[in-house]
Amino acid sequence: MKRRFRLLILTVAILSLLIVIGGCSKKEKEIPNDVDNNIEEVVDDTSSDEVEKNDLADENFSKENEKDEVNTDEINDSKTEEEIVEVEEVVEEYVVGELPLIEGGIKGVYDARGLKNTGTCINGFVIKTFADNIIDNYNSVTMENDMKPEAILDQTKSVAAGDLIVNYPDRTFELLDWAKENNMQVRGHTLVWHSQTPQWIFYEDFDTKKPLVDRDTMLARMESYIKQNFELLEERGYIDMFYAYDVVNEAVEDNGTLRNSLWKAIIGDDYIWHAFYYADKYAPEHIKLYYNDYNEQFKTEHVVALAESLKDEDGRSLIDGIGCQAHLYTGDSIFKYMKTLEAFSATGLDVQITEIDVSLGSWQKVLEPTDENLRTQGQYYYDLVNSIIEANKSAKTNVSGITFWGVSDGVSWRRDRSPLLFDLDFKPKYSYFGAAQDKDHSGY
Ligand code: G3I
Repeated sequence: MKRRFRLLILTVAILSLLIVIGGCSKKEKEIPNDVDNNIEEVVDDTSSDEVEKNDLADENFSKENEKDEVNTDEINDSKTEEEIVEVEEVVEEYVVGELPLIEGGIKGVYDARGLKNTGTCINGFVIKTFADNIIDNYNSVTMENDMKPEAILDQTKSVAAGDLIVNYPDRTFELLDWAKENNMQVRGHTLVWHSQTPQWIFYEDFDTKKPLVDRDTMLARMESYIKQNFELLEERGYIDMFYAYDVVNEAVEDNGTLRNSLWKAIIGDDYIWHAFYYADKYAPEHIKLYYNDYNEQFKTEHVVALAESLKDEDGRSLIDGIGCQAHLYTGDSIFKYMKTLEAFSATGLDVQITEIDVSLGSWQKVLEPTDENLRTQGQYYYDLVNSIIEANKSAKTNVSGITFWGVSDGVSWRRDRSPLLFDLDFKPKYSYFGAAQDKDHSGY
């Protein structure tokens, strides 16, 4: 009996102790906000949440938690432990190629973030094969090859006319008609370039066996060519689709000197000034005139100096924008690239990413398309586009559009380096979701 009584007393004592402890800890959590100490309390709570969060996080997502603290903090504030686990599991379990595409396409995402022109380059094959995808994701197109000098200059007609004659082939009209039917805007690419330009345009009687023409003849040919080009687009009813035109392409070497070409050899270094002078004279006002180049992060100040030299006699700028091709690698510095975009934007000119593709690795060492490397690529696209959107918001850059150089790895000029948003089976990659600013599916 005595023993039972002692047991009863002990049980009552333990229960009372538990109630007191429970009450205290509840009180601790109920301390009102108006106490100074509470600041420390809140900080402590946050850090313990952080510890909890890190404990819970799967290894794959620890990087995400570090980088996206705002999101995880919000989650921690409002969700229980079980819910956090559930949210992270949902994000973890996906096969990127089977995910549905972003509603409204990349163009919808960019439009909502202030980037007006979202483009891809097209050719006869892709408009037949991937038309729906192009229409869904882009509002702008660039002809990959079919508006380049070698495509639109006609030797037979030039010989007959004694002037350099522009004559678009049927395939170019087909692309322009397709763009028109599908309400696309067009970036013109390109007029004056050292590459994909027929040599006969530089010779007397358009005959490469004869001597090169003199400066005045070449300037007259250049003026006639540029004039005819814009007249043809006007006469055939395409001119309104064009919002930008690459007047001169790739004229600066990586070391900042002007690239050798027959344009430069015959006319002199001011051939670029003349090209812009004629384009400014003959292109309608609504078409922005661009200088377009690659590797500009290595020659930024030279491109800026060139752009700033393109003024008429009254000091008016003959150029409207600088195009950055962005044939990049996942090993390239986004910081450095952004510095170039900032320097170009500081000129007051419009800036566009005109040919983006991001190959795996570096130019010295191209990497295989493993899941890990493709995730890195997805993150790269996410970070680069995000940096541009943020820099535009804070007025550090004036980037008005982004054009991808191709619709999928299978049709890319760099198909051996997996640089685009869709894979060889036309399935979306991490890079698609990264470019479309869906961070959860971008490989993070
Ligand atoms: O059309 C012919 C075909 O008839 C022939 O059988 C075949 C054999 O090689 O060649 C075909 O032409 C190729 C053409 O693309 C069309 O596919 C050329 O060889 C090939 O050199 C050409 O490459 C283009 C490259 O410019 C030439 O410089 C790429 O498609 C095009 O994406 C690329 O685009 C350039 C931009 O205009 C300027 N910035 C750099 C960018 C990448 O090089």
